[in-house]
Amino acid sequence: MMMQTYQFKAPSVIVNGPGAAKEVGNFAKSLGKKALLVTDTQLEKAGLLNDIKKSLEIAGVPFAMYDKVVMEPTQDYTEEGLKAFQEAGSDFLIAVGGGSPMDTAKAIGALATNGGKISDFMGANRIPKPAAPLIAIPTTAGTGSEVTPFTIITDTAKDVKMLIASPNILPRVALVDPLMTLQMPQGITAATVLDALTHAIEAYVSVKAQPLTDTLALQAIRMIGANLRQAWSNGDNLEARTNMLIGSLHAGLAFANSSVALVHGMARPIGAYFHVPHGISNAALLPTVIEFSILGNPEKYADIAEAMGENTEGLSLLDAAYLAAEATRRPNDDLKIPTLKGLGVEEKKFHSVVKQMAADAIASGSPGNNPRKATPDEIVELYKKAY
Ligand SMILES: [Fe+2]
Repeated sequence: MMMQTYQFKAPSVIVNGPGAAKEVGNFAKSLGKKALLVTDTQLEKAGLLNDIKKSLEIAGVPFAMYDKVVMEPTQDYTEEGLKAFQEAGSDFLIAVGGGSPMDTAKAIGALATNGGKISDFMGANRIPKPAAPLIAIPTTAGTGSEVTPFTIITDTAKDVKMLIASPNILPRVALVDPLMTLQMPQGITAATVLDALTHAIEAYVSVKAQPLTDTLALQAIRMIGANLRQAWSNGDNLEARTNMLIGSLHAGLAFANSSVALVHGMARPIGAYFHVPHGISNAALLPTVIEFSILGNPEKYADIAEAMGENTEGLSLLDAAYLAAEATRRPNDDLKIPTLKGLGVEEKKFHSVVKQMAADAIASGSPGNNPRKATPDEIVELYKKAY
């Protein structure tokens, strides 16, 4: 038996199930005097904020809004949001939306109590003081950001997605409500379910995995694998949406504590250089990177194949493990995920930046968690293969 201890961190409270978002007022009361609600304009138009605003009003908690976040978060949104936070005299945050509003709110919270610029905090454990408290309410079943100590902010001047990891930005409360995900359009559903699946798989094979994250990650793979097609085919299917969101929550808790690996490391530069949505970048890389990584831990990849519903009976360990790649290629076909080329990633530019992308991937640290280590040249080859 190896002598080792493990740490597992999570928000103080996670409320999950249909209607969870309506409990926001009760939690808001105990976190501060005035909230900044960070969201995007589309959600407001879709009426998704109505119950949340009502709950805050009933609880007597005043709030200001910052609803400018569109697409992936950048340092400009962060600074604009911080200004809104300070001008409103807010002392805590409520994020409603996908990964972008949640990640932006984490960054605003960090700057509010620590000062400086968000780029000062790039990397692991570089935020000295706890951020302003945050209640996170996801509207997509994908990022898991509601339970992670990570935020990804794009430095638009350098085309780099800055990975910022610190327990000081972990949300205090996560309200995980499938009713908030029913209106998600099909394209966003596809991107986010494949992000969640990638979180679950990478958390399971990460060299930082631990018994608690293994349990959560494997259950996440089962729930996501069994429900992603139904949630995509019929957005109103509450049972599929609930299972997807709870699966994504399991995956979020897992990778918050065991990290992601090579797929995420390689996906971020694709997003930064070509503005491909995060989940789609992951999906385009996942089967190729799995094939490469299997030799590092075939037992775990065989478990993944089984959790994805593949029939592994009577197969050798390696044959079973290779089914994991197959099992992740099929959702890409079913949910019509294009290859990088099909996504409009221009070939000339791709070849001119692919070496730099490999360097950026390694610099993010995530590839270091992969069960099979990849050299810069191998990462370039994997990019080309996925292209
Ligand atoms: Fe992700």
